[in-house]
Formats: sequence, structure tokens, C-alpha cells
Amino acid sequence: MKTLSRQQFLSYTASAGAAMLLSSLEGFATGGPAKKIRVAIIGCGSVSNRYIPHLQGSSQVEIVALCDIRRERAVKHLETYNLGKMPVYGSVDELLAGVPFDMMVTLTDMQVHGELNKKALLAGRHVWSEKPMANTYAEGKALYDLAGSKGLKIWGAPAVVNSPQFEFMAGLVRDGKLGRIASAHGQYGHTGPGWSGFFYEKGGGSMPDLGVYNMATLTGLLGPARAVMAMTSIVNPERTVDDKGKIKVEAEDNAHILLEHDKGVISHIMCGFNYFDPHGHEAGAQSLHSIQVFGDQGNMRLVGYDWESNGVYLDNSWTEPPVLHVKDSKGYQWQEGATKVAGALATGVSPRINALHALHVLEIIEAARASSDTGRKIQLESSFPWPMITVTNKQA
Ligand SMILES: NC(=O)c1ccc[n+]([C@@H]2O[C@H](COP(=O)([O-])OP(=O)(O)OC[C@H]3O[C@@H](n4cnc5c(N)ncnc54)[C@H](O)[C@@H]3O)[C@@H](O)[C@H]2O)c1
Repeated sequence: MKTLSRQQFLSYTASAGAAMLLSSLEGFATGGPAKKIRVAIIGCGSVSNRYIPHLQGSSQVEIVALCDIRRERAVKHLETYNLGKMPVYGSVDELLAGVPFDMMVTLTDMQVHGELNKKALLAGRHVWSEKPMANTYAEGKALYDLAGSKGLKIWGAPAVVNSPQFEFMAGLVRDGKLGRIASAHGQYGHTGPGWSGFFYEKGGGSMPDLGVYNMATLTGLLGPARAVMAMTSIVNPERTVDDKGKIKVEAEDNAHILLEHDKGVISHIMCGFNYFDPHGHEAGAQSLHSIQVFGDQGNMRLVGYDWESNGVYLDNSWTEPPVLHVKDSKGYQWQEGATKVAGALATGVSPRINALHALHVLEIIEAARASSDTGRKIQLESSFPWPMITVTNKQA
């Protein structure tokens, strides 16, 4: 099997992104002359190479400006993505004072998301933010309230609840196909990003970068968590990264988190930057069951990552072997969040992605750190509308 390093993966996705995207968006119905949402992208690093082609494939989106404190990165994107002569800015203040737009897509270092998102909201712009929406739950909640007070929207990654595999699993839970749910497990790790130091600095870490996916999936499936207990650690105290050379690791690169849900359900997530995984970000061949949910009449195991899955095994028979369902992702792509919420703004139809869910996950991350520091169980105050799906699950 062919394996790609993280760096190879990213350069591959930069060039192949546009082609991959066209097929993924064929089902993106428009139904008449839709309003176009004018989007500005702030942060033109690695992940922007996945977002830009996806946004470009939507008839409801027009990218109108790019911004990066390393301005040359934004300038390079103009050519790479055939963006013509659109304005390019070197700071958020210039961006917000520049060409008009409707929604800012925040793809910068995690540590500055909160302050950039606040500026955008204050300037009357909707926001899609890569994770996390802010550095703390309180900061994120204040942004959510600010958006509400101004008639604006803010949403945060990830978009895992959009996948058909999530929908299938949520349908099994809702329809009682697993019986009484007891326990669940999620895991996501690799050997860590090598290009930017912020992943390892205070405010970074494996929970907001990786664990966040499993937290969104498991709370999305099992409902809001009421309390958290966790242990986190730093396994590798020093890293060498492209932008800063040798750095000290300040944020957890290893974490185990226990979530207490309603009705006695307990879930567990482990994530880290020191997990050997030959698949890395070549998710297509990944066979690991990264999400597992057990009830007293059945269990389900998600094959591959929750952000790019290869199906869901349902095992609910004493006599028959487990059956693999939902092998086709039906156009879902993990980088689709900004495109989908722009579509929601254009049509007025609420997306499944919910900002309160992203905020809940942010509170879990903060609570996990507090639990690890103090050895205590931390009660959570946030919640979100649950269940997250309404359709009937016909396949099981
Ligand atoms: N790289 C991925 O595969 C990936 C996947 C999913 C999510 N993410 C998330 O996307 C975000 C960005 O990650 P990345 O890997 O693209 O990082 P990156 O370091 O490659 O890119 C970040 C970019 O933001 C710019 N930037 C930093 N501060 C800024 C500011 N104040 N104003 C304008 N620009 C600023 C940097 O100059 C850099 O070009 C993170 O939240 C990360 O967790 C990344």
C-alpha cells in the first residue's frame, strides 16, 4: 500500500483539490438563482489548500478576498487557485476595512481564532472558524452571544456530523438498534504536524487539533456530556518544526478523556501527537475502528476516521456476522463546513452543524485540562440541541 507523509499529503491535496471537489459537489442543489455569499479567507496555510477548492466548487459562494500575516502566501494562492486579481491583505484590520464581504473563514493558528472572530463579528461579518472557535469556553460563548446580538452567525469546525456515516450511526442510536447504550470509545492520533509550531504551544495541543473530532462525534451520537475526567501529558518535550525550528512543547500531546453522558452512558477518547499510524492522513485505506459504541443488543464500529470514514459495522446478531454499512460518503468531505454554512446563509436553511455543539466541545477540552491539573471530575454547564438528526434510518 502506498503511504504519504503528512507533507506529501498536503502538497498533493493542494494540486488535486480542485478535481476532487468537483465530484463532491455535484449533489449540491441550488434550485434557481441563489444568492452568493461573499467569503474572505484569513489564514492561507496548509488547510486553506483544502478549503479554497471546496468553496470554489459552490455556486453559492464567491471568494472575494484573502488575508495572511505572511502576505506572500495569500498572493501565491491567487495564482494557484486562479483567483485573478482579488484583494490580498496582510492583517485582519486591513481585511475588515477593505472589500465588502459577508462571511470570514478563519484558518489561522488556533491561538488567534478568538480575537480574529470577534473582530469580524464586530465588523458585521458572519464567521466560520476552524477549531477551536476561541481559546476558552467563556470566550467562545461571548462570541456566540455577540453574534446573536448582531443578527450574525458563527460556526466552528469540525463538520463530522455531516457525514452519512454519522447520520447512520445516530439513526441506530435513536431507533434503539443497539439496545441500551453503555459505552463508547474514540481515538485519533498521528505523529504530529511538522510545519507549524502553534500546534505545540499554549492554546494548541492534541485535544483541539485531533481529539476535537471524536468529541464532536461522540457527543453528537450520545448527547451532551455532563462531566469530564481526564489525564493529559507531554510525551515529547521538544519538537522541530518548519516555521520555528526547535521548540519546547507546552500543550498536551497525549490525552485520555472520560465523558459522562445522561442515562449512565460513559465514553472515552484518546488522542495524541505520538501515535504511529502508517495511514496518517491517507484516510482512504484506514481500517482502524476509530469510533466504537456498545449497547446491550448491539455494537457499531466506524471504519477509518470519523472525518473521512469507510463505513460502519453493525454487529447486532448472535448468529450472523457484522454487516458493513454506508461505504459511500456521498460527497461529504471534512473540509466542507464553510461551504455548507455559506449555503445555509444563502438559502436560510439551518445546517446540521451547530455552534452550540462546537462550544460544548470547547468546554470539554478546557474541562479535561482542568481535570488533569486537579485530579477532579469537572461538571459542564454547556449543552446543545440533541439529537442532531431527524431522518429515519432505513438501512439497518
Ligand atoms: N492542516 C490541516 O490539515 C488541518 C486540517 C483540519 C483543520 N486544521 C486547522 O486549521 C487551522 C490552521 O491550520 P494549518 O495547518 O493550516 O496551519 P498553517 O500554519 O499551515 O497556516 C496558518 C496560517 O495562518 C496565518 N496566520 C497566523 N496568524 C494570523 C493572523 N493573525 N492573521 C492572518 N493570518 C494569520 C499564518 O501565517 C499561516 O499562513 C488550525 O486551527 C488547524 O487546527 C488544519
